[in-house]
Amino acid sequence: MGCNRKKTEVILSGFFHLRKIKGKIIELFKIDEVNMKKVILITGANRGIGLESAKQMKALDYEVILTSRNAEDGERVARDLGVRFHQLDVLSAKNIDVLKSHVDTEFGRLDALINNAGILIDRNDHILDVPEEKLRSTLDTNTYAPLALTRAFLPMMIAQNYGRIVNVSSELGQISSFSDSTPAYRLSKLALNGITVMLADAVKSKNILVNSVHPGWVKTDMGGAEAPLGLEEGARGLVWAATLPDDGPQGKFFQDGKKMAW
Ligand SMILES: NC(=O)c1ccc[n+]([C@@H]2O[C@H](COP(=O)([O-])OP(=O)(O)OC[C@H]3O[C@@H](n4cnc5c(N)ncnc54)[C@H](OP(=O)(O)O)[C@@H]3O)[C@@H](O)[C@H]2O)c1
Repeated sequence: MGCNRKKTEVILSGFFHLRKIKGKIIELFKIDEVNMKKVILITGANRGIGLESAKQMKALDYEVILTSRNAEDGERVARDLGVRFHQLDVLSAKNIDVLKSHVDTEFGRLDALINNAGILIDRNDHILDVPEEKLRSTLDTNTYAPLALTRAFLPMMIAQNYGRIVNVSSELGQISSFSDSTPAYRLSKLALNGITVMLADAVKSKNILVNSVHPGWVKTDMGGAEAPLGLEEGARGLVWAATLPDDGPQGKFFQDGKKMAW
């Protein structure tokens, strides 16, 4: 009986990914559906650069998990694009947990993560007058959330010795050209860049590449209508970093594939 079950399992495993709990098969996924395509998760992808990145990654034949905090918005754009959707408010530890279980159950892997969701709420503030609340909420969204997401999904990447993590940063986070304006946003991206360097060191013996990317000044709700770059050019550098070859750069800062100063 046990021998037959083992034989059946060996045969099945040639065609299906077997999901087991305590040795019992509880679900089967067709190998061509789950194992052939690389899986990417993008945060804040219901609009702007996140949505455009989802489009470009789909065109590269990735299995895209488009996430957004507003389920209605996200579901609609994911449906239009023909990609998967999952709700995610990056500030919610519970949401991150639920999403992690979902990705694990559905795919058993995550190949790339683009930490794109971000806020800019202190355009007219300066370091001496920015309300503390703005500092805290900006750092929560732009800095601590990408770290929490990375911590949640890194074990899946380590398990398969493959991963690409893109922290969407900004030239406003370059300490080499800091000023006293937009302090919360600048600090949040500076600290995000610090996290990129630390993570790169933490995974240096593995095939997991973590980089910061500045999309450029892009026409979005955040970038405004004056911005010189369109969405396509803005997302291009994120897609480049999400699809780096194994000998690609690690722990650096880029715009459109070109290295930037910290
Ligand atoms: N545009 C530029 O010129 C520029 C320049 C440098 C860097 N960046 C960076 O590029 C990234 C994308 O910016 P963008 O220009 O595309 O901005 P955007 O059009 O304002 O989009 C921001 C996205 O982040 C999402 N978001 C914010 N807080 C969230 C949360 N708690 N949970 C989940 N999603 C959340 C928004 O969702 P909702 O729709 O629900 O608000 C939206 O989808 C940001 O990290 C930004 O800092 C942009």
